Amino acid sequence: MTYFCADGIHLEWPVMRFYPHFYRSTASMIPEKSCAPKRLLILTTFFIFSFVNTYSQDGKALFQAKCGSCHIMGGTSTGPDLHGVVDRWGGDVKHVEAWINSWGKLVKEGDTKAIEVANSTNNVMQDFGGSLPQAELDALIKFITEWKPPVPPPPSTDQGGNGGGGGLIFGIISLIMAIIALILMQVNSNLKKLSDDAEGINRPEPVPFFKNKVYIALFSVLLFVVGGYYTANALIDLGRQKHYQPEQPIFYSHKVHAGVNQISCLYCHGAAMESKHAAIPSVNVCMNCHKTITSYSDTSPKLHREDGSEVNGTREIEKLYSYAGFDPKNAAAWDPSKAKSIPWTKIHNLPDHVYFNHSQHIKAGKVQCQSCHGEITNMDEVYQFSELSMGWCINCHRETKVDFYKVDSAGRATGNKFYSIYEKFHNDMKNGKMDSVTVKDIGGLECQKCHY
Ligand code: HEC
Ligand code: HEC
Ligand code: HEC
Ligand code: HEC
Ligand code: HEC
Ligand code: HEC
Repeated sequence: MTYFCADGIHLEWPVMRFYPHFYRSTASMIPEKSCAPKRLLILTTFFIFSFVNTYSQDGKALFQAKCGSCHIMGGTSTGPDLHGVVDRWGGDVKHVEAWINSWGKLVKEGDTKAIEVANSTNNVMQDFGGSLPQAELDALIKFITEWKPPVPPPPSTDQGGNGGGGGLIFGIISLIMAIIALILMQVNSNLKKLSDDAEGINRPEPVPFFKNKVYIALFSVLLFVVGGYYTANALIDLGRQKHYQPEQPIFYSHKVHAGVNQISCLYCHGAAMESKHAAIPSVNVCMNCHKTITSYSDTSPKLHREDGSEVNGTREIEKLYSYAGFDPKNAAAWDPSKAKSIPWTKIHNLPDHVYFNHSQHIKAGKVQCQSCHGEITNMDEVYQFSELSMGWCINCHRETKVDFYKVDSAGRATGNKFYSIYEKFHNDMKNGKMDSVTVKDIGGLECQKCHY
């Protein structure tokens, strides 16, 4: 079997020579006689493939499979955070590898560092019994040492600044690859012509690609689509701030409060049940607890800003005291009425022409805070999780079924009584004309419901 095209010079030779498996699997997807598309496909796929390959490490998958049940990078799980672990072991990679491969062996040998680490937690690491090959250890160490805390989402304080950087880079790379492919095809056809001339075969003069109508048409369409996409997005994004995460006057962590300490959202944002706004709690709400919780304990999880720098929780609580005018050494003298409010920066902002009501969604709609605000319990610093675009509201209204009030044949009522007023749907449901009611059906797409 030959992997060459039936004619011409073989540009894919290096691919074929050095990556025969790759070549074979791509080549077999294309009928033998059509050379140009085959060549193009093999070359572009190869470029994309090698690009993707250099950027995704084996180590990550290995880590997830073998260690992920106990370790997470950048946080404590059953096992400790492995970020910077090689440094903690004095930069001795071999020593860390020996630990990973069989920590029990090290401990038995009386290795002091291993004994110290083994005693550092009440949990026990899985002993791999020396079963991990060196290549896997290398990949794991590479992944662990190269891991960096996630880059903070771009704080786009400027209006309209979030033109997905990754997408742009990918677009540029695709464009460069397309140009390379075109040039290669051109070179190829010229070389073919030379070889044809040498063999005395006469073929019609090939049309250069910049005069070729198909290429011109394809290029124009591409330009139109890409240009249109970016222009439209930039326009729609005006005033939007997904991922907006301003620095707050106090490093107040939702992860510590709503996550680790499981304080209910409604303890602080109780207004969300009753009114349009969820509202931010006042200093006095904080002081309900912080009159007595005066420091952030050393044993609680360490706090980090998005840029990785460590936060001193106790210092942050002291900032709260300076707003409250509270002196922990003289707690009895505190006068709550002297408290100054904390100038929190508002993160979520809908334009003035939109009407949005929390209680409608939470009490009547039974929508979870997380559906719109993301996993707040995992966020140290809150950021805007959803786009808050009109499309976002509308999509959810199209898809979400309301917990419609039904009375079954036995007379049992289920669902939310709030909806009992919608006579028509009840009849339709009874007659089997519809089986569920979405927000759209109750008017959730009507302009005036959301716009003043
Ligand atoms: C069953 C849970 C578990 C699994 C699976 C596990 N570990 Fe651990 N690991 C731990 C615990 C717990 C510790 C803390 C030491 C102790 O108490 O034994 C630890 C400690 C470590 C340490 C030393 C940390 C330090 O701060 O000095 C390294 C390095 C490590 N693990 C790497 C790995 C790697 C790599 C894997 C996957 C190949 C892995 N672990 C799989 C639970 C686990
Ligand atoms: C102990 C009080 C407290 C609890 C509990 C709490 N929050 Fe907050 N929340 C705050 C404070 C203070 C702010 C303002 C500072 C900030 O943005 O981080 C805030 C801000 C927010 C914001 C951003 C508001 C904006 O500026 O647009 C959202 C969204 C939010 N909280 C949701 C939640 C959710 C969901 C929960 C439950 C999982 C919760 N909060 C639990 C005190 C609390
Ligand atoms: C259906 C989506 C949705 C749900 C569910 C939702 N929110 Fe919101 N939230 C928003 C929107 C949209 C804003 C921006 C409102 C504005 O700018 O007027 C917002 C703003 C906020 C704010 C900033 C202060 C304010 O009221 O404008 C807080 C705090 C907040 N939400 C907390 C919560 C909590 C706590 C819950 C759950 C009890 C919750 N939200 C459920 C969409 C939602
Ligand atoms: C229901 C009780 C409660 C309320 C209300 C409360 N906290 Fe806390 N706070 C805690 C607990 C518990 C801790 C963790 C203490 C520890 O782990 O040592 C904590 C820790 C902190 C810390 C240090 C960790 C961090 O998040 O940076 C700060 C700062 C803080 N609180 C500020 C506030 C502010 C500001 C408010 C009001 C918006 C508030 N707290 C309301 C219970 C509360
Ligand atoms: C996660 C899903 C979800 C998102 C996102 C969402 N909504 Fe809703 N919305 C609901 C549900 C469920 C109801 C039904 C509650 C009810 O019956 O009033 C509802 C009801 C409403 C209503 C009342 C409709 C009526 O006919 O009574 C308005 C107004 C509304 N939403 C506005 C908005 C706006 C504005 C946004 C975007 C900023 C938004 N919603 C985003 C789920 C959502
Ligand atoms: C479920 C709620 C909802 C409904 C229904 C709705 N809108 Fe909107 N609309 C919004 C939100 C939220 C925004 C703000 C979007 C933003 O800031 O990007 C918006 C923005 C707009 C804008 C400003 C342009 C923009 O993208 O900022 C116009 C114009 C508009 N809506 C027209 C309409 C018309 C016309 C209808 C009826 C066909 C309608 N809307 C129905 C929620 C709604």
